[in-house]
Amino acid sequence: MSSVKQLFDRNIEWAKRIKSEDPQFFKKLAKQQSPEYLWIGCSDSRVPANEIVDLLPGDIFVHRNVANLVIHTDLNCLSVIHYAVEVLKVRHIIVCGHYGCGGVAAAIQNSSYGLIDNWLRNIKNIYYRNQEQFSSCVDEEERIDLLCEFNVVEQVANVCHTTIVQDAWKRGQDLTVHGWIYSILDGVLRDLEVNFNAPEQIPEVYRFYPGGGRR
Ligand code: CO
Repeated sequence: MSSVKQLFDRNIEWAKRIKSEDPQFFKKLAKQQSPEYLWIGCSDSRVPANEIVDLLPGDIFVHRNVANLVIHTDLNCLSVIHYAVEVLKVRHIIVCGHYGCGGVAAAIQNSSYGLIDNWLRNIKNIYYRNQEQFSSCVDEEERIDLLCEFNVVEQVANVCHTTIVQDAWKRGQDLTVHGWIYSILDGVLRDLEVNFNAPEQIPEVYRFYPGGGRR
């Protein structure tokens, strides 16, 4: 059996299993999706959004890229956030990084991996700006893990600085942005407790509406 063929076999078994638990599951879901969460995570195969939080199809809207970055000129990521906030009206945006992230590790090192170096440059900037905070790290692994956390905090800020999130807050929409980190060693999520749900929480220069933008 080819390795691709087995995916179809597994799919049939999976669909059967879901239907046996709830015969109407796919029929109901086909009518509409109304997820409460947008997940922005790393493409790493060990960090699958639905599985980690044990949610079924329909419960979570997902965007993943290498090292869970939110770049202001990335039309793909911005379109996902826009659709999630303005159409699906998600109530939570979760930026979820993970310890031992290969993208973050590559950004700390001086090796070249080709095109992706330009993407990972965004993480180098975070490392360079916060260099002194890494002086107490005992080894490279600890430096990488600390940078994984700094990266999540930075991407949470980037989400908040988009026009999309600020427009939602201006409309009075209930929307909170969270920063989490996942450990591939034990499968456990940790809340970095960087939660934003109002324009007053972001630095003034990033606000698009005077006085914080509340209605
Ligand atoms: Co990663």
